[in-house]
Amino acid sequence: MKLPLDGIKIIDMTGVQAGPACTQLLAWLGAEVLKIERVGEGDITRRQLRDIEDVDALYFTQLNSNKKSLELNPRTPKGKEVLEKLVQEYDMLVENFGPGALDRMGFTWERLQELNPRLIFGSIKGFEENSRYNDLKVYENVAQCAGGSASVTGWWDGPPTVAGAALGDSNTGMHLAIGLIAAVRQRDITGKGQKVAVSMQAANINLNRVKLRDQLRLEKLGKLEEYPQESLGLEFDDAVPRGGNAGGGGQPGWILKCKGWETDPNAYIYFTIQGQNWKRTAEAIGKPEWAEDPEYATAQARLPKVFDIFKYIEDNVLADKTKDEAVDYLRKFDIPCAPVKSMKEIAYDEDLRESGTIVEVDHKARGKYLTVGCPIKFTAFTPEIKESPLLGEHTRETLALLGYSEEEIEEMIAEKVVGETIHLKLESTI
Ligand SMILES: CC(C)(COP(=O)(O)OP(=O)(O)OC[C@H]1O[C@@H](n2cnc3c(N)ncnc32)[C@H](O)[C@@H]1OP(=O)(O)O)[C@@H](O)C(=O)NCCC(=O)NCCS
Repeated sequence: MKLPLDGIKIIDMTGVQAGPACTQLLAWLGAEVLKIERVGEGDITRRQLRDIEDVDALYFTQLNSNKKSLELNPRTPKGKEVLEKLVQEYDMLVENFGPGALDRMGFTWERLQELNPRLIFGSIKGFEENSRYNDLKVYENVAQCAGGSASVTGWWDGPPTVAGAALGDSNTGMHLAIGLIAAVRQRDITGKGQKVAVSMQAANINLNRVKLRDQLRLEKLGKLEEYPQESLGLEFDDAVPRGGNAGGGGQPGWILKCKGWETDPNAYIYFTIQGQNWKRTAEAIGKPEWAEDPEYATAQARLPKVFDIFKYIEDNVLADKTKDEAVDYLRKFDIPCAPVKSMKEIAYDEDLRESGTIVEVDHKARGKYLTVGCPIKFTAFTPEIKESPLLGEHTRETLALLGYSEEEIEEMIAEKVVGETIHLKLESTI
């Protein structure tokens, strides 16, 4: 079956998470992705937090499925020649090196255009080119801090907090993937490539749209009525505060304890008081009279009492129900809610397995392992999630396709311009 990106060839000079998440998605959509890796070392994640000795770490296998691997040192003259040939033949080059690293290798955007005007160049950095921080190297949590997320996450009496989800890394990769697909479409029209750049800070800010909304409201009104601070009578500062587990919109919500919370750290549900569903919510919580009672009937009236209402629900509705029983009960009343899922529950969830959001992949060195599959579902095709490549597994095949003879390839391997390490035996790192 034809896939959307069939025929698109990508030079993947990405590492760690942000870039690899992008090119992996494009590979699932049919692109041929060739990962360029350091000779004898590969992507650092191959040996980060290994769970099996001498076998590529899950960090690598989960972010580099469906790709090929070429070990190449583009900092040597011969290695440069190989990369130049690839640039001339491929459709895209995607990178997320530290600032200036690709330029120092001799592959500036100007040079890439000279080599191939149709090339689409995707680049991830921590900050945008004009930023006063543009020289900084950036990892996930740095981006969450720079993008505003940390300042609005956590508790008002605690420090800024980062989320466990990769709002800096994988999120930026997904943004870049959208940009690259748009650039392919534009190239269909104009015949020309272009540079597509996404900074981790900007991608993170894009997820903080409603927090910017709140900043503007705070400046205008001096308070944010739906934030817990308002219900708890706390002062507002001049910047959006951390709101604990409050809902981001006008529908107050909170994480509520269910039966077993004393011993199970995830025995909770998220409960939302949806204004337009207040009558049924009141019924669900055993207080039908609150539907009409002016003390409770409007969102405005409920706000100062919202934590009392949540406490009432915990004590009287949820205390004798597990999180799943609670959701089964509340769903009858159309209450927006869900159990707090642990990663263990996600890993073994039958529905997620069936839909392909969690998939099992067979890897030639590691055997079977679980990974997150494609979250986007299509009617015309189903992305197939395949194993990640061993280090340098496709070095020979790639060089032969570029026209190098067996002899030349052997020479380049001997000179460490390229490599075919296959099983990386370097010690595991964190
Ligand atoms: C992620 C990051 C912090 C890692 O930093 P790092 O491990 O020091 O690695 P860099 O990407 O800066 O690369 C280091 C060097 O390796 C070199 N290198 C990379 N691939 C190479 C290869 N195949 N052969 C030889 N050298 C190679 C680079 O040329 C660079 O050299 P230089 O800085 O001396 O000129 C950094 O790449 C970064 O800030 N990237 C942009 C933001 C980003 O994507 N972060 C998210 C990570 S999930």
